[in-house]
Amino acid sequence: MDKRFYVTSPIYYVNDVPHIGHAYSTIICDVLARGARLRGAKTYFLTGTDEHGQKIEQAAKDRGDEPLAFANRISAEFKALWDYFGISYDRFLRTTDSDHVQGVQKAFEKMFASGDIYKGEFEGNYCVSCETFWTSTQLLEGGACPDCGKPTSVLKEENYFFRLSKYQERLLEWYESGDDVILPRSRKNEVVRFVREGLDDLSITRTNFEWGIKLPKSVNDSKHVIYVWLDALMNYATALGWGADEKLMEFWPASVHVIGKDILRFHAIYWPAFLMSLNLPLPKCVAAHGWWTKDGAKMSKSKGNVISPKEVADSYGYEQFRYFLLRDVPFGQDGDYAQKAFIDRINSDLANDLGNLLSRLLGMSKKYFNNSIKTGQLQLFENERKETDGIIAQLNTLFDTLQFHRYLEELFKIFSIANKLINDFKPWEKIKKNEFASVSEMLVFIANVLAKGALLLAPIMPKKAEQIARAIGISIDVKTLERLIVRGEWNISYDLTDSPVLFARIEKPAAVESEAVSAIEINDQISIDDFLKTEIKVGTIVDVKEVEKSDSLLVLRIDLGETEPRQIVSGIRRFYDRGSLMGLQVCVVSNLKSANIMGIKSDGMILAAADQSGLKLIKTEGLMANGARVR
Ligand code: MSP
Repeated sequence: MDKRFYVTSPIYYVNDVPHIGHAYSTIICDVLARGARLRGAKTYFLTGTDEHGQKIEQAAKDRGDEPLAFANRISAEFKALWDYFGISYDRFLRTTDSDHVQGVQKAFEKMFASGDIYKGEFEGNYCVSCETFWTSTQLLEGGACPDCGKPTSVLKEENYFFRLSKYQERLLEWYESGDDVILPRSRKNEVVRFVREGLDDLSITRTNFEWGIKLPKSVNDSKHVIYVWLDALMNYATALGWGADEKLMEFWPASVHVIGKDILRFHAIYWPAFLMSLNLPLPKCVAAHGWWTKDGAKMSKSKGNVISPKEVADSYGYEQFRYFLLRDVPFGQDGDYAQKAFIDRINSDLANDLGNLLSRLLGMSKKYFNNSIKTGQLQLFENERKETDGIIAQLNTLFDTLQFHRYLEELFKIFSIANKLINDFKPWEKIKKNEFASVSEMLVFIANVLAKGALLLAPIMPKKAEQIARAIGISIDVKTLERLIVRGEWNISYDLTDSPVLFARIEKPAAVESEAVSAIEINDQISIDDFLKTEIKVGTIVDVKEVEKSDSLLVLRIDLGETEPRQIVSGIRRFYDRGSLMGLQVCVVSNLKSANIMGIKSDGMILAAADQSGLKLIKTEGLMANGARVR
């Protein structure tokens, strides 16, 4: 890891209040920033709000507000939420901040002076929602925007252009300059393909609205305001004082820009080209995460299915929420927020595997050794120690390449090793035979696993990690990390203190057992055409497997008369066992988007009905051909 670490989140548009997607971006940055600080890097973490542009002007107008007053209000909501969550940002930048405005004007001035900005005439199809021009070949049928699907309008105006085309070759060289320039690596190809097709110069001013940064005085053209993406992207440099006092520019270039996949093009094409034009070094990495859906559907205000991160955190615990977001979905892939999967994670990974391990350690140490455990040196459990060391050795790379789901999956294996050791070693039997020394050694091993685990969990669950550290008497700091993780030492003594329960188990509300069914709010009547969009087919269950660490999930393979049986993850384990399911014909929603449930792909949903008495699968009245459609 470099000595300096600069991580940025996207700056959020103020036309929407914070939701789970925003929280996801910000939390990933917070995890990276905490990880870097713990490893001793001088760290700067930037977040903020994107407040200019036609979209914001319009949103303010719709509410009868002035744009700035409106932006003040929503920006404060974002800041308040990040503060409530204890997000460890160093600056919350607003694009209406005066140093940012000054920096953006300076950038425009420089690009204009060097000839990278020129004046021309522009006609194009403009999407207000995405603040983007599209060529007619890019538009969807009926002239809709290919990104958001909303209608575009033809806009003709005198514009200033940025010579994006000039940077095509240098951009292609940059993509090839390292493996991690764009993460996940699979996304790089997308960008390379787009750039290879040729880049048009980019229109970077607007005259059809006023809510934006004015052109610099030296250019002297008051009709125009600066395009919101030039304004917004520049925040990564102006936050460090670029164009003003430059005192934080030691942090440049950014170590990683964390963004969502929808804004990759802006960050992987426009932004590096702007930087090249300004003679600034390029970021080391642009990392694009996937999108969160709710029960397979895109979240939107009109559907009423937008998830409030604060509500979720208040109900289930903020750090549990962080764990779920990072553990459940591989970075870069889309994920589905399902309450059931979340509760399963809390109960199995956190309460069972980790929380229980700590209480077992504390319980036995108190009972047998009055809270103080030590050994001359560690002699036993060499295999377990080696295995633990081996797992820990791979973790840095997984963290640095943002593969948090794998990082946590691997990390939790060390807790499994420790839990298994207790079960196999049966210390309670040894104590009966007065074999105190070996039990003490076992407890020292467990305390080491928890100490190492706490250090490695600290970026993701800082408060819980602190709680573990306090209970076993270590501190979470650079020195301890150096000793127990980097040098891989094993402590030989611990003074333990009682600790409250680390993670409370969550009782699943009855409705959550069949969440997919209960989540549908039936407000409006639908037409027969709406209904027929749902493809329901009859199929035979040909294989059933239990999902490890879940007491509610089963993985089923169902023959729907297709070339191969479908894999479907279903939360029916409490109601059906393997034997009663094999060979059963059931009804399946077969055109549901694939979902990822606890890391397992699910291609459909089994239909069931639930009431107070439990849950029953839906079957046809007699046997049918597999694949028969239900109407
Ligand atoms: N203002 C621009 C970013 C400018 S950065 C110089 C913007 N803002 S946004 O508020 O619309 O989106 C901010 C981030 O939230 C994006 O990275 C986007 O991908 C992310 N998300 C918004 N909805 C999301 C989900 N449902 N799921 C995951 N993240 C998504 O774009």
